[in-house]
Amino acid sequence: MRLMIEPFKKPIYVTRPFLPPLEEFCQGLEEIWETRWLTNNGPILRRFTQKLCDFFETDNICLFNNGTLALQIALQGMGISGEVITTPFTFVATINALFWNKIKPVFVDIEPEFYTIDPEKVEAAITPRTTAILAVHVYGYPCKLNVLANIARRHNIKLIYDAAHAFGVNVGNKSIAHCGDLSMLSFHATKPFHSLEGGLLIFKEPGLKGTFDYLKNFGFKNELEVVIPGTNAKMNEMQALMGIKVIKYFEEVIRKRAVITDLYRWRLKEIPGIHLLPALPSEIRYNYAYMPIEVDEQEFGMSRDGLYENLKQYNVYARRYFYPLICDYACYRNISVKDPLTVARRVASRILTLPIYDSLALSDSERICEIIAALTTRS
Ligand SMILES: Cc1ncc(COP(=O)(O)O)c(C=O)c1O
Repeated sequence: MRLMIEPFKKPIYVTRPFLPPLEEFCQGLEEIWETRWLTNNGPILRRFTQKLCDFFETDNICLFNNGTLALQIALQGMGISGEVITTPFTFVATINALFWNKIKPVFVDIEPEFYTIDPEKVEAAITPRTTAILAVHVYGYPCKLNVLANIARRHNIKLIYDAAHAFGVNVGNKSIAHCGDLSMLSFHATKPFHSLEGGLLIFKEPGLKGTFDYLKNFGFKNELEVVIPGTNAKMNEMQALMGIKVIKYFEEVIRKRAVITDLYRWRLKEIPGIHLLPALPSEIRYNYAYMPIEVDEQEFGMSRDGLYENLKQYNVYARRYFYPLICDYACYRNISVKDPLTVARRVASRILTLPIYDSLALSDSERICEIIAALTTRS
């Protein structure tokens, strides 16, 4: 195939982790080498925990070695069972956390605007077996917070948020992680804020902290007592150190991502068949975690998969987040789904997330837009 625009010399992946200056990380390593305290609630983890308490203005937090185990432990510690209403348009870990707790996921459709769970569908799916709603702030876009809170209150069920994508997203001047009974955030390396890997729970009920602490540390209450069969989901000192070093640069990372997003949106809105999400309401402070587009095959002249494959020829590796829907994975296909999932199916077949990270040059995002424009047969 003859390429119309020069391909990138090096691959451009969908994301690239932010790293703090090496000297700053090495300074922290010196402390670890001195103390030889590598894990088990070390001094750096305690400092990181305090920083996060200040950041979120609450003591009701608990740190984990990743977001998946954090969510799994959250469900266990809160005693969630039976059926949980959730979305099929998410990363598989959301649903795996239910599976590990022997909870049945009840999949309902999403809204077309921001791809978050449709509250009307949630309410219609509630049965006497429903114990919770597990909603996802997909790409960091807020769910319908008030409507969901109302439904949960009226039906006396828990409202849990998978906020894996939502570190740094604020509603008014408050973190979105304060919404619902509990939120889980992921600090995976691919996120705008990370601690190599990591996870955080933020919750309303202060009593949960003790339970989560036991569950992530084998169930130990003290040297001699195991009060619950827990697992090992502790964050270690290296992770905490990375978290402390990265958080210092978080606002700068967000600013850079915002500029790249603006450029993408400005350049892509002209291309027929490339659909962007609407602007967020002014009270939302976004974190620019992802750059999703929808590809309309008729208007663009090429399918989403066609665009995805063609971008690779230019050394651009976009991702089909989230496709397939979770209920279509082989291991979940046997779960009966009553909702036709009309919107989720349409979005999953059209969605593509473009490269975005703080160190992506503006000229590179501009070139990605030029490539997309050159690939349409409709201009
Ligand atoms: C929506 C969602 N939930 C859960 C997770 C799991 O988080 P982690 O990778 O920290 O285990 C991810 C992963 O990135 C995610 O995207």
